[in-house]
Order: sequence, then C-alpha cells, then structure tokens
Amino acid sequence: MLSAKIDFNFYDYHPEPDDLTKEVLEGLSKSPKSLSPKFFYDEKGSHLFDEICKTEEYYPTVTETNIIRDNINEIVAYIGNGCMLVEPGSGNSRKVRELLDAVQPHAYMPMDISRAYLHKEADKLSCEFPWLNVHAVCTDFTSNVELPYKPKGPHRVAFFPGSSIGNFHPNEAIEFLSNIANMVGKGGGLLIGVDLKKNNAILNAAYNDRQGYTEAFNKNLLVRINQDINANFDTDLFNHVAYYNEEKGRVEMHLVSQSDHSVIVEENEIQFAEGESIHTENSYKYSINEFQDLAACAGFNAKKVWTDKNELFSLHYFDVI
Ligand SMILES: C[S@@+](CC[C@H](N)C(=O)[O-])C[C@H]1O[C@@H](n2cnc3c(N)ncnc32)[C@H](O)[C@@H]1O
Repeated sequence: MLSAKIDFNFYDYHPEPDDLTKEVLEGLSKSPKSLSPKFFYDEKGSHLFDEICKTEEYYPTVTETNIIRDNINEIVAYIGNGCMLVEPGSGNSRKVRELLDAVQPHAYMPMDISRAYLHKEADKLSCEFPWLNVHAVCTDFTSNVELPYKPKGPHRVAFFPGSSIGNFHPNEAIEFLSNIANMVGKGGGLLIGVDLKKNNAILNAAYNDRQGYTEAFNKNLLVRINQDINANFDTDLFNHVAYYNEEKGRVEMHLVSQSDHSVIVEENEIQFAEGESIHTENSYKYSINEFQDLAACAGFNAKKVWTDKNELFSLHYFDVI
C-alpha cells in the first residue's frame, strides 16, 4: 500500500474504479438522475477546477486566501505549532502554503481522490518545503478518513478549505464532520472555509464563468466516465446549467439533455428525454450561525470566525467538545 519516495510518502486506498461503475449506474437509474461530484476529479477535472479558481467570477478562492493572509497570526495561534495537519480534498494544496511556515506542522497529510494529481502536487510541495514531512493519502473521504500515519504526541488539526463542505447535503455534512471530529480527537481542531449566503447574481455568475471553465468541468464528468468505464456519452448533447436555488440554499449544477436520446453504460441502455437533467453538484451556502449550529451537531465547538469585508466567505476555527 505504501510506496515510499525519497521526499514524501504516498498511501493508496484505491477508491476507484469499481465504485465508479456501480455508482454511475445507480445514479443514472434514479429519478431525477444524479451523479456524485466526487467523480469530477480525474486529473483533467482537477486541472479544470484550478482554472475555475483563477476566473474573475469565482470569488471563493481569492477571498478565502485573503482571509487567511489577513488573519494569519490569529489563525496560527488557534492551530498551534507542531500539529499533525490533515487536509481532506487537498487539490493543489495552494492554501496550505499560506500556513506552513508559520505553523511548522509535525507532518502534513493531503488526502484526495484524484490520484495522479495528488501525487504530483505532493511531490511539488515536498520540493518547495524540504523540511516538511508529507504523507499523501489517495482515498474517498466520504468513506474513509483513516490516518495511515499516526504519530503519538502531536495534536491533530483538519484543514478543509474551498467550501467543499457545501457539496454535502446538511445531514451528510454532519456525518462527515463527526468523522473528522473522531479523527482529530479531543484537543484537536478544524479550520474550515464555508461560503456564505449572498446576492443570487454573484452566485450565479461564479458557477457560469464567461471563459467556460465551469461548463468544461461539468461536462468532463461525462468525458471521464466514457474513458474510465464502458460508456458513450456525447457531451454535445448536454447543456451546462447552474443556478442558485434560494429555497434550498444551494447552487445546483446540472447537465441537461438537449434531445431524446440513449446512452450505453456498461451494456445498460440509459434513456434521456429532451430537457431531462443529470444533477451533478450541490453547493450549499450557510450563514455563520447556521454553520456553527451544524458543526455543533457533529461535536465541534466554535472558537472563532473570520470573514472578508464584503462578507462573501467565512473561515471558522472549531475545537472538539
Ligand atoms: C472544490 S476542490 C477544493 C480544492 C482545495 N481544497 C481548495 O480549497 O481549493 C475539492 C477537492 O476535493 C477532492 N475531492 C472531492 N471529492 C472527494 C472525495 N470524495 N474524497 C477525496 N477527495 C475528494 C477533489 O479531488 C478536489 O481536489
């Protein structure tokens, strides 16, 4: 399971591809049809997400990074030096770079489902921070947040930026955060980025960037299914649709069929009617109080919250009750 490199450790729990076939068929048999957002992230999907983060419309990345920069001393005081820093859904580990020199963690554990991308990013990080003890874990964090490396001594802090928590239904978010609370244990903490409720126009623009990266990211789900299992989606027959559903407090992303047609997935014929959608992602938005209440249900105690001056985004620190 462990393949040691000179400068970092890589643990592979093989979260795919069996899960992909099973979950794709299950999702497409539902009414309405849906697919899990975790399947966006093959290597191409991870790169497309990075491009989305650079667009003018996608405010969360730049806003959260600035919140960290503007409050770095206070944040580091909450995290404490010498911890074991675990980042589920680490992606390009860009934001943790803002923390590393000041926090001087005992070890950093990026966790991600996107294997090749995680490997490359862990490699880059350990070259950039040669003193850092990096233990990268390829896993599906919805089913496994086991730590393959558990040194005795350092307290554990989970870092979960990017408002990835918004991809869970609130009940699932409580379940996931309960697993994180167990993983960090008493004396541990959680630094988590959460997108705030706001003007619909800002939200709608953020998920419909003019350069078309979000559209490509959404459609890449079908491209990667065609590549990784036996399927024949024609991406030109689907439209990218994303909008804020105010009643449910979430941005919804869909792929909407432009015509009546059928697709073959592993010898199963899946019918699509014109206008029928595959629901590909939710991104729940929370007020500060709503999120603190949700985290309390998972065993977390609110210590501090930082926001930007326009109140677009929030960064919370919790410890375990
Ligand atoms: C929205 S991006 C956030 C990336 C980064 N943390 C940031 O703040 O910019 C979500 C990240 O979580 C990873 N991811 C999504 N679902 C996952 C799952 N079920 N298990 C592990 N990683 C997952 C993706 O590969 C991606 O890198």
